[in-house]
Amino acid sequence: MTSPSTMVAFSLSIVVTALAALAQAQTPNVSLLIDDPYYYDLAQSLDVRSLLPFVSLRKGAAFHWGSTYSYPAAAEANWTSEKFSTYWGHIVAENDCKWYATEPERQDFTLSACEGVSQYAAEHFATFRGHNTFWHNQLPAWLPGNVTASDLVNNVIPTHVSTVIKSLGWNVTSWDVTNELISDTATYNMTSLECVLNADRWPTVTYDGGSTPLVTNLSFAYAAWRTALMYDPGKLVYNDYSTGAQDAKTECVFQLIADLNINASIPYNRMGVGFQSHVGAQEGYYVPKAELETTFARLAALGVDALVTEMDLWIQANDTINQRYQAAIWGDYLDACLYASNCFEFVNWDNRDDTSWITPGDGHGVAMATLFDMYGNPKPVTYEIMARFARYAEGAAEMCATALGTESCTVY
Ligand code: XIL
Repeated sequence: MTSPSTMVAFSLSIVVTALAALAQAQTPNVSLLIDDPYYYDLAQSLDVRSLLPFVSLRKGAAFHWGSTYSYPAAAEANWTSEKFSTYWGHIVAENDCKWYATEPERQDFTLSACEGVSQYAAEHFATFRGHNTFWHNQLPAWLPGNVTASDLVNNVIPTHVSTVIKSLGWNVTSWDVTNELISDTATYNMTSLECVLNADRWPTVTYDGGSTPLVTNLSFAYAAWRTALMYDPGKLVYNDYSTGAQDAKTECVFQLIADLNINASIPYNRMGVGFQSHVGAQEGYYVPKAELETTFARLAALGVDALVTEMDLWIQANDTINQRYQAAIWGDYLDACLYASNCFEFVNWDNRDDTSWITPGDGHGVAMATLFDMYGNPKPVTYEIMARFARYAEGAAEMCATALGTESCTVY
């Protein structure tokens, strides 16, 4: 006769199997371009750099496809150099151009690391984008300090923004002028000021989250943007995460750029909106392609660029179905950008899983969130990206959203 403990163990195993099946069911079975032998073979070289001129030709302007770099040299220097010669053609400094790195003491600028990244880009015939001139994180120790609101708006921000932008010169495609100003708990119908105040971040509150605001209006943002407009010949970008869908936070982005346009006199055709895109391969954790496209098109109607600025994409488990889901979602984001009339930059955040800032746990599944694995080896997504570029460069019409699953989309 079966003992009670065996029965319990047996029932538990059924529950565990059922839960595993449920988790698996949430990961759709997707179609990929690399399932087609033609694109599979074509993608094997991973030489995206050779396709980029043809991508740019079709777009009618240079298309920038890149990733992050930190000065002086990455741990895997040869690997990194090879990838920035063959796979990526565009570079952003992961940390070296941030405020703490560039102005560690007030008016005492150390721009060598930031310029070093730009130099590294030049050595690899890659283009460079600037990140960032204003953010509430990674500040130097002297900030927030005891600067007054008028000192911040009239001196501190203009000096910082102008010095950093000028030092990098004219070969920068775009600068993230302000980063992450908007609240995660924004609601529809908030004004741009409310969208920012609701975020409870310096300088609209004291740095410790206390209730005493340093500034009570958006004068700090206007100061950063007006300064950037004077010194940056490239696009001026508002960059944020958890944006791109039809939702209240994205609505706040539209409110904010309208405010900058009206009150800081920033022309729409000098502006871009950066969608960081730190996303996950699970429904609800990424923006479906149709929603991204709607948002990009709404910006295009204003004359504003859309940029994907920091893409990484965690997966729930490191198995084939999840790796394919990752490839489908990344492919959809890339297609959304490629087929948009106003998207010319697509930047991935961290080059490989062993150096990614996205780590397992903490709602990030098993992480594995970059385009190359722990050992620098390619994954399905790495090849799928190459295939998507090839298909676009060939002049093919836009295809379906693959992340929706096989039932909704068959790739030709
Ligand atoms: C991250 C870097 O990747 C980390 O190395 C650093 O410790 C923290 O910042 N949004 C941004 C990026 O705009 O600058 C952040 O980069 C990731 C989130």
